[in-house]
Amino acid sequence: MQVVIFDNAEQVAAHAADWVADLVANKPSPVLGLATGSTPISLYKKLVEKHKNDELSFKSVSSFNLDEYHNIDPSNPQSYRSFMNDNLFDHVDIDKANTHLPTCTDTQNPREQGLKYEAAIKAAGGIDLQILGIGANGHIGFNEPTSSLVSKTRIKTLTEQTIKDNSRLFNPDEYQPDTAMTMGIGTIMESRYVLLMATGENKADAVNDMITGALSAMCPASALQMHENAVVILDKAAASKLKDQGYYQWADKQNAKLNAQYGFYHNY
Ligand code: F6R
Repeated sequence: MQVVIFDNAEQVAAHAADWVADLVANKPSPVLGLATGSTPISLYKKLVEKHKNDELSFKSVSSFNLDEYHNIDPSNPQSYRSFMNDNLFDHVDIDKANTHLPTCTDTQNPREQGLKYEAAIKAAGGIDLQILGIGANGHIGFNEPTSSLVSKTRIKTLTEQTIKDNSRLFNPDEYQPDTAMTMGIGTIMESRYVLLMATGENKADAVNDMITGALSAMCPASALQMHENAVVILDKAAASKLKDQGYYQWADKQNAKLNAQYGFYHNY
């Protein structure tokens, strides 16, 4: 796992945006895995900025989101489809027909929908770069603690903590879903690169468990210890519980030297 620590959330977003731009520049039909939540909003702002400055086009990009609430109308402002339209898709030149979320209505079979989503990812050539956030309980996507570390896209019941954490986004009288469709941990592990962004002190314990804790279904993000190309980008607050911060910073400088000498190479 490569751990990169920045002074602030702004720098985390800028670095993540450079990863996306590098992928788009180097692969003819790039496939992005996207996340919702507060953390990637600043990344999406940077991507929109790059697009407006003519530095980045999404014409060739396909995308697959990690998750979507179960049985939510895409036009509902709380849907992750609306989130993606508002924060990214409506502001760039992506073809919305190439943007996918794991949807499932009440009349659809969640198992079939999960299988179809997996097949669609495969048909697109697999995910090149999966953007991830992390829950305070170590979840990735909506894979809550005890999720199978080899799980695939399926319906999940959210934990009380996740429902509470996300309640800030709902009005008191608004219905808040407690089930969602989510890529599995196995789905995420099949991405060629994984870029996990974490900012803020409330993520510090989960980040420490993910990087230095045991590989355990109790911290779903710890599965990334087994990923060949997992990059974790943190601000100082999210990194604050890590013991070996000096090592990560030193290793990052060494990597910059290697990149300068041999080129910045991604095996997409
Ligand atoms: C969202 C997702 C979740 C979030 C996580 C952190 O698509 O998959 O795992 O990444 O809950 O959310 P924020 O960024 O709001 O702290």
